[in-house]
Amino acid sequence: MRGIKYLLIISALLLALAFVLTTFVFKGDNKEEAVTENTTEIIVLDESEEEKEDENIDNKWAMFLVNKSNPLPMDYDSRIETKMVFESWREYFIDSRAAPYFEDMLNAAKKDGIDLLVVSAYRTIEYQQQNFDNSVQDRIDNRGMTYDEAYADTLAEVALPGESEHNAGLALDIMSEEYTSMDDDGFENTEAFKWLDAHAHEYGFILRYPKGKQEITGIIYEPWHYRFVGLYYANEIKQSGLCLEEYYEEQGWLDANGKATEMLGPWEEPEEKEEPEVTTVPENTEPKETMPTQPEQKVSIIV
Ligand code: DAL
Ligand code: ZN
Repeated sequence: MRGIKYLLIISALLLALAFVLTTFVFKGDNKEEAVTENTTEIIVLDESEEEKEDENIDNKWAMFLVNKSNPLPMDYDSRIETKMVFESWREYFIDSRAAPYFEDMLNAAKKDGIDLLVVSAYRTIEYQQQNFDNSVQDRIDNRGMTYDEAYADTLAEVALPGESEHNAGLALDIMSEEYTSMDDDGFENTEAFKWLDAHAHEYGFILRYPKGKQEITGIIYEPWHYRFVGLYYANEIKQSGLCLEEYYEEQGWLDANGKATEMLGPWEEPEEKEEPEVTTVPENTEPKETMPTQPEQKVSIIV
């Protein structure tokens, strides 16, 4: 009888010990280990994903919004170097960093039997103002509009100085001998447009003012206006079917007023440049265009 009593007491003690061990010691340790493991895993994944994405992005400097809500910084003109990329009646320049991409595109089109024709590229602020004023005057003289009507109508076609991608040296108006009128969107029916529509993104360019997006961009459909954003974003945007403002919105890069909060480009602090000891003209770059000495080829009113 005494033997059974001892056996029962020992069993009860063993059970109690097992309970204490499983509840407070093993479980606690496992939990901590699991949390530590998970936390480490998440951090490592985040870092590598971010790094991987960053590695894929070329020409990040070129991805920024220029529009009514995002005018260029006043000194932007002094921060860029331009390079001549096309010559016809006059010379056309763009940002020298984007120039090789455009030259590749021009050559690739040529190989496919398409002769692209640049009708406008980098514009000084003064030249943009001149375009805007000419456009207003043309509407008053030839379309019977009042000044206010002409001004409002022009705003949908010509950006105000500082609000144009042409002022940033990142936009080109590209047409072909087949069709050079900017009075309508007939250029979209040309072989040149079809080629650009199919291939421009492969060279880092997007159609900036697509059809049906005027409500969002504030600008009419311009089948000729191409904007350099780099290969990564040009591909992303082309695949998305969004215009640049929509893409920014989708990424969460816009505030309620349409002002960019991310991918700020020139609004980010400019890098401190070390003063060179001797001032030299960099190889392969040309002095920036001031005012054109020749009219834009064949196009009387440039938009
Ligand atoms: N035509 C475009 C909007 C510009 O002037 O930049
Ligand atoms: Zn343009």
